[in-house]
Amino acid sequence: MRLEVFDEDFIPERILFREQQMDRLATNLAPAEFGSRATNTICLGSPATGKTTVVKYVLNQLQNAKYVYVNCQASRTKQQIFFKIFEGLRGFYPPRGVSLQKVFSEAFKKLDSPFVLVLDDANFAEDGVIEETLLAVLKAHEVVEGVKSSAILISTDLKYLARFSSELLSVFHPDEIYFPPYSEEEIREILLDRAKLSYVNFKEEAFEEIVEETANYADLRYGLSLMKQAAIISWKLGKEAVDEECVEMAKEKGKIVFFKKMILALNEKEKEVLRAIYTSNYKRAAEIFSEVKGMSYSKFNEILRKLEYLRLIDVVTKYERGLSSVVVRRFKAEEILKAIEELK
Ligand SMILES: Nc1ncnc2c1ncn2[C@@H]1O[C@H](COP(=O)(O)OP(=O)(O)O)[C@@H](O)[C@H]1O
Ligand SMILES: [Mg+2]
Repeated sequence: MRLEVFDEDFIPERILFREQQMDRLATNLAPAEFGSRATNTICLGSPATGKTTVVKYVLNQLQNAKYVYVNCQASRTKQQIFFKIFEGLRGFYPPRGVSLQKVFSEAFKKLDSPFVLVLDDANFAEDGVIEETLLAVLKAHEVVEGVKSSAILISTDLKYLARFSSELLSVFHPDEIYFPPYSEEEIREILLDRAKLSYVNFKEEAFEEIVEETANYADLRYGLSLMKQAAIISWKLGKEAVDEECVEMAKEKGKIVFFKKMILALNEKEKEVLRAIYTSNYKRAAEIFSEVKGMSYSKFNEILRKLEYLRLIDVVTKYERGLSSVVVRRFKAEEILKAIEELK
């Protein structure tokens, strides 16, 4: 059995249902392959829609350009990102005591091919960091002559671009590539492919149970982790194949981990709104708003949209004495609240 095929950073040989996105990205990167600046790109879509996988896959095919990949969950400040760029281009960590400006200019000193900076999970970086980094990198040729840099931004926030200043937009007007959620049928095929690669034997009902659960939670990453856990459990129990019992046990453990990961992506205000939704008996958005303190209604609405986008809630419009927004929970309250509690 090969369990690494279920791990998050595993890049499969076959990426299904993403031909269009891969094609667009390859086209945007083509100039860099031939000595010029690539077309800037932003990849947008909910979690686990294949953004990171597609970008890494296409970048790995580049032969004549250099890229540096930065995950902004791990590197949230400008200094951390600049250090990553330096390390990526020079092959060693910047010496101590050197100013950030110097780190930046020295990073590009030996560069002799076009450069692509990838900022993944950009919505996690601290405020303003992405903007400053992009401005610096896209204008790097003003500091070091001959640099031909471009950027790929990856974000779950569809409105991400709207926040940028006009100064940045004048150098960064990216091509937008959208990654839609996978259908249940697509999820089945992707997971089936991975099951084959793993050499783990899944009984048909057990596999179908995983597909259904993954589609319910609309998260491929959760499905892959369930497969991995179920395989370990069946091995421990000495079974020949993964059966429904193993999947049930994997679900018990997997859910809380899954919720915790989602909640980790929220800031304090967003968590407060989520908690209010899962503790109060109110359903109408206006009533839930009365429970949270210290934010405007438009901020509250923006948070609702984000929580809906992350698939933690659904927001539906109903006609009850006029139009009103009604918030529907997607999960059991005790599961969400337990995850919030355990993260404190
Ligand atoms: N089209 C696909 N074909 C095969 N595996 C996929 C596909 N899309 C996503 N995956 C797998 O699902 C998981 C989540 O994908 P990822 O690229 O990390 O999503 P995102 O970056 O959008 O959150 C990864 O383990 C990845 O290998
Ligand atoms: Mg990703």
